[in-house]
Amino acid sequence: MGRHSLVGGLSIVGGVPLQGRVRVGGRKNSAVALIPAALLAAGPSTIDNVPRISDVDSYIEIITSMGVTVDRPTPHSLRIDPTGLINSVPSTEVVRRLRASYYLWGVLLARFGEAEVGMPGGCDIGQRPIDQHLKGFRALGAEAVIEHGVVKLKARRLVGAPIYLDVVSVGATINIMLAACLAEGTTVIENAAKEPHVVDLANFLNAMGARVVGAGTDVVKIKGIGSGSGGRIRSTGALRGADHAIIPDEIEAATFMVAAVATRGDVVVENVITKHLDPITAKLRETGADIEENGDWVRVRMAGRPKAVNVKTAAYPGFPTDAQQPMTALLSTAEGTSMVTDTIWEARFKHVGELQRMGADIKVEGRTAIINGVERLSGAEVEATDLRAGAALLVAGLMAEGETVVKGIELVERGYEGIEQKFCQLGAQLERLPDEGDEGSAPAQLRVLKSGS
Ligand code: EPU
Repeated sequence: MGRHSLVGGLSIVGGVPLQGRVRVGGRKNSAVALIPAALLAAGPSTIDNVPRISDVDSYIEIITSMGVTVDRPTPHSLRIDPTGLINSVPSTEVVRRLRASYYLWGVLLARFGEAEVGMPGGCDIGQRPIDQHLKGFRALGAEAVIEHGVVKLKARRLVGAPIYLDVVSVGATINIMLAACLAEGTTVIENAAKEPHVVDLANFLNAMGARVVGAGTDVVKIKGIGSGSGGRIRSTGALRGADHAIIPDEIEAATFMVAAVATRGDVVVENVITKHLDPITAKLRETGADIEENGDWVRVRMAGRPKAVNVKTAAYPGFPTDAQQPMTALLSTAEGTSMVTDTIWEARFKHVGELQRMGADIKVEGRTAIINGVERLSGAEVEATDLRAGAALLVAGLMAEGETVVKGIELVERGYEGIEQKFCQLGAQLERLPDEGDEGSAPAQLRVLKSGS
């Protein structure tokens, strides 16, 4: 998929209650961990339920440039054959497109004893330090330095070790798991992240022949299978290829649930693991929503104006930071004052300025947004600054009076497959605007805004 085709804006005529059924795809943050994990094997793996999003496309671009063969046997599956993997330095431009390129550190270190990969990119939502990743690799016996924007790792042997994470980090937990699988001896990660995609990765690695226990708790043990005699690195993958289906994306599900409440609609969100949605369900119920859970779907109904609630994000099983921004949009029209605190990312309120353009009354103090609910938002031209900020603006546009134009929609498409089609399927009035600069088309920002409907 050409990234260029994604650039542009989306016009939303708000005020339509969403109704109907929508199916959630595979979890983005699992996909971008499982794709590099497949490179630890000597043979091909098939990963199913892979979302068609640009972060996955970027990952495929990176690994194919390193000699890996990737096919799509079906629209949502990938066959990844790492037989031809060579330890090369991937293009800094592609690496910087997404955060999860940092998983190449763990994988290449385990496979080759050496890695040189540029610093990752991803959403601009805070400082995003990598000290816990490096602490983990050093504990396993690697030298780790950052030079000229490149992370350089080197080890003659990788030997399992106890590692206590000073902060609960999804990325560091996964990266250490990836490297420790091929090390000699046992690694114990304490204060590990418990997110469901850590469990998803552990299941995939175990299917590949790794020995990971405790994923989903705060202590994860990895009995390394030893990639070579005496822990010496050998460059052929030491695990075997496996087949695995990715778990559903709880943030995509949360976005539809929040949008259903925001538009006072009635939506069945299908293909979910209801347990993973517990914090979302609980908070939406506090706003007054009626939520029915049944096996692999949830039905979300809302009548009337939502009530204000307080939200504090936390690592799983807390309220996910990735759903904070859409939730803030919803609360901007709640009755009363809500306080939303993001304890994970210090700069995840960039959508607030855009919501203010739409009439929201929100003040940010430090890591907390104080939201005085207004009766309604009004459509305006707004711009997504990051992936979930974009999702928040879509929610805002869906409930606002009149037309909203959300620019920078390509950021949303980094993590949501077919978001425009899925919302349209629920009755939303959405229209893709031509890319800015397309010949013969009016740039998005010059579009005349219609009055409310
Ligand atoms: N942290 C450190 N040192 C580290 C790593 C993290 O201090 O070495 C801190 C961070 O500053 C943050 C906290 O630990 O305060 C948690 O960071 P974590 O490492 O868990 O985040 P991440 O791995 O960079 C992943 C997701 C994010 C999601 C966070 C938290 C991927 C590719 N990204 O990021 O997803 O917000 O976990 O759940 O899995 C998104 O999907 O929109 C997104 C940003």
